[in-house]
Amino acid sequence: MPKDPPNPAQPTRPVHGGIKEAELRELGLRLEDCLDFSASVSPLGPPEGVADAIAAVDLTAYPDPHCLALTEVIAEHHSGEGLSAANVIVGNGSTEIIHLLTRAWIGSPPAGCARSALLLTPTYGEYDGAVRISGGEVTTLTATRCSEGFSWDAAAVAAAIADQRPALTFVCNPNNPTGVLMAQEQLAAIADAAADAGGLLVVDEAYINLSERREDADVIALAARHGSIIALRSMTKDYALTALRLGYAVASAPVIARLAALQPDWSVNGLAQAAGLVAIADDAYLERAREAVAASRDCVVDRLTALGIRCYPTEANFVLAQVGDAGRLRDALARRGLFVRDCTSFGLPDCIRIGLRPVEDCERLADAIADLWSEEPQR
Ligand SMILES: Cc1ncc(COP(=O)(O)O)c(C=O)c1O
Repeated sequence: MPKDPPNPAQPTRPVHGGIKEAELRELGLRLEDCLDFSASVSPLGPPEGVADAIAAVDLTAYPDPHCLALTEVIAEHHSGEGLSAANVIVGNGSTEIIHLLTRAWIGSPPAGCARSALLLTPTYGEYDGAVRISGGEVTTLTATRCSEGFSWDAAAVAAAIADQRPALTFVCNPNNPTGVLMAQEQLAAIADAAADAGGLLVVDEAYINLSERREDADVIALAARHGSIIALRSMTKDYALTALRLGYAVASAPVIARLAALQPDWSVNGLAQAAGLVAIADDAYLERAREAVAASRDCVVDRLTALGIRCYPTEANFVLAQVGDAGRLRDALARRGLFVRDCTSFGLPDCIRIGLRPVEDCERLADAIADLWSEEPQR
């Protein structure tokens, strides 16, 4: 298991998707002419009513530092899972909560725990970045890769926790970028191992609401009761509030109180809070989003498979495709205004990740890949 020494003075910043202005300038492109498949958010765009809610926000008023109304509505939304407002914290994206977690748990590890975090890789880069900024050590358990996809053995994860006693263990579920979903029983076993070691299991569910199998993996009820598990949700992803950023976490009241004590006031702006209230009230939205994701996934998988490109099975709103030289394909597509995620930074230089947009956009991307393939098949 590789161990890297922490270097808080020179932490490496994680690589993320999204289109950067500097690259647009270099390529002579305008944002409005591009399609972004590199950030995976709901293909439907924000729910109806969000734009009006934002327009109605008083821009001269500070936002509520406690996000009280939204916290209560989120607790109500999960009331079937036994939540109250004391079990919820809202953040400026779930990423803010990841950083609060590492400041708290890596900054002051629980008694008997190491100043370290265990990551199940390949995975979202922000965990590594946040742990290092907090002065912690990162250890990794890398998934086994075969033609059917990627998998971790929950028993091996539990054994690594017992051995290393990390303050934090991160499981991204479904995982970015592999799309693998770990079942609830496996998560519960890992949470038990974390509890025995005195650490905290972080289950990042940024993509779970857009997964057809989400019920197999639900840990919200566990997180509210079990002091050693916290679930993260991303309303940025669920409701395409990408420019606003909004996320929340569910955990036992003491865990939430510890995070709240570290959160800067007003970190969640008033526009995001107003948008979140409207979004979560739209009961039909997520079901429609899941239908749209399924249609786009079928389109991408069918079109790429027909070109001889392997698409790994996915339970999320993105597809991991094995394309040969990922950087080269990504750059060739970018020159056409189509941005996919090169997975080299995840340790997968032969893969791209395609965030699922509406079917017509996916057809356009598939046409471009087919065109490039006809010029020079990669493999
Ligand atoms: C697994 C995972 N968690 C969290 C985030 C960040 O989401 P947010 O906008 O809620 O901070 C991302 C973004 O790519 C992600 O992939």
